[in-house]
Amino acid sequence: MKKESLQEQSPVESFFSIRVGTDEFAGKVKQIATGMELDMGDFNIRDFLLAFSGDALAGFVRMRKYSDCLELSTLGVLREYRKKGLGKKLVLALLDKFPGEKVFVTTVIPGFFLKCGFAKTENYPDSLKPKINFCHSFGFGEGEVHIMVQSTHGPG
Ligand SMILES: CC(C)(COP(=O)(O)OP(=O)(O)OC[C@H]1O[C@@H](n2cnc3c(N)ncnc32)[C@H](O)[C@@H]1OP(=O)(O)O)[C@@H](O)C(=O)NCCC(=O)NCCS
Repeated sequence: MKKESLQEQSPVESFFSIRVGTDEFAGKVKQIATGMELDMGDFNIRDFLLAFSGDALAGFVRMRKYSDCLELSTLGVLREYRKKGLGKKLVLALLDKFPGEKVFVTTVIPGFFLKCGFAKTENYPDSLKPKINFCHSFGFGEGEVHIMVQSTHGPG
């Protein structure tokens, strides 16, 4: 690769590769995501995108599919790879796979998802209500759990 093209790449592009989840990583993702107290319901590794730094797993995210909506879920970046743009890169890569679709997220960190193009909403499907209770079960109060939605992300 020419020196100029390396310089044109953003750091996050050059450090991380992203691919669809495969069985060999299911155990590791389960273990790390459980440690981060993330949603493990309806776990299927093929719903995940995994990020790698070389051969090392650096992060993951999945689209959880309900009968009436899609929810971005189970987003985690391993501590040593945080604050490098990987979380946002994973979110945008997942949204790219569902162009034009309305995607919800249930979260206690709305500031992060605002930066990924989501907006808070009070208008969400009933299937997400158990997820709000899941967040409350970890001690988060009423005003701390937010449902957000994005429907503007698409090609172009
Ligand atoms: C939340 C998490 C995925 C962020 O990953 P990350 O790779 O550090 O995030 P990024 O570097 O891509 O951050 C993108 C932007 O969001 C901001 N941001 C990151 N974490 C944030 C947070 N917790 N609250 C608000 N903003 C945040 C960054 O400052 C950055 O802003 P900038 O674009 O203006 O510089 C990571 O901290 C994590 O895995 N946390 C534990 C699990 C978790 O909370 N998952 C989400 C459950 S809904």
